[in-house]
Amino acid sequence: MDCNVRPESMIRITTPELAEAFIAEQIELLRKQIGDKKVLLALSGGVDSSVVAALLIKAVGKQLVCVHVNHGLLRKGEPEQVIDVFRNQMDANLIYVDAVDRFLDKLAGVADPEAKRKIIGAEFIRVFEEEARKLDGIEFLGQGTIYPDILESDGVKAHHNVGGLPEDLQFELVEPVKLLYKDEVRVVGKALGLPDGMVYRQPFPGPGLGVRCTGAITRDRLEAVRESDAILREEFANAGLQGQIWQYFTSVPDYRATGIRDGKRAYDWPVIIRAVNSVDATSATVPELDWALLKKITDRILAEVPGVCRVLYELSPKPISTIEWE
Ligand code: XMP
Repeated sequence: MDCNVRPESMIRITTPELAEAFIAEQIELLRKQIGDKKVLLALSGGVDSSVVAALLIKAVGKQLVCVHVNHGLLRKGEPEQVIDVFRNQMDANLIYVDAVDRFLDKLAGVADPEAKRKIIGAEFIRVFEEEARKLDGIEFLGQGTIYPDILESDGVKAHHNVGGLPEDLQFELVEPVKLLYKDEVRVVGKALGLPDGMVYRQPFPGPGLGVRCTGAITRDRLEAVRESDAILREEFANAGLQGQIWQYFTSVPDYRATGIRDGKRAYDWPVIIRAVNSVDATSATVPELDWALLKKITDRILAEVPGVCRVLYELSPKPISTIEWE
């Protein structure tokens, strides 16, 4: 039997009880596969890698080594949450790599979107590889591959943007959720005790805020993306929209517009609010948001985010527009 094909008899995991049964079964299988060896896992804080980490912690504890690479393009509070959940609450073996300067230096002056994606993907591999080489006795590589990854891209975790590890660093793969759909991974994550913010996280691109700080990334404009995004997320959560709208974020383009600040002419960035509903990201519609909510978010961004003098709400569906700005 092809172990990459979901058997027809496999029951869809929709309840906590079914999740508990899956977890118990996987713990046994993981212990059998891994024995007393070590497993390495790139832990982004996304739902898939977080669920794999939590499963492996239950199965083999400190034999799991998680590596969290902060490439400077994560959302506000994300690295802190990964450290808090996995190191502080789950007592995991977690290596936190602050690679912010490394990534931003490499990206300086690069405006082409695909070149940016390539740099981020290649640098991620390099950092991960460097960390892997510092460790002894790793024989397994954990991966958050899920069933749609197998169906869509020959088993390659497409959105990780990784090209693979070098020959001398080949590990046996450990992919405990590879036959699960996203909704099932979330049910398992909930049963494993992961926080809702992680379990119900909206899709987030591998290149992170890098594709929302359009053109050549600068640190100040990247901060404007991060801060405006945090305000948007906070206000959407306050309005009960978290989990109701499929994906939402802000983008800051690499051009300026005029404004007036303290009686003086300002020449600052616009912030674009993007909110979409979608099933599988191939098409998307724009929800009709409450005007008072949009006004509140606008006022907060203008008051709290340095370098911003305009806020826009984007109305374009996909197609023709893509969800991300580049
Ligand atoms: P687009 O912009 O193509 O986005 O309409 C569709 C979905 O994919 C996400 N996205 C990416 N995810 N690496 C990723 O891992 C990428 O380079 C990338 N570009 C877009 C986007 O957030 C949306 O959910």
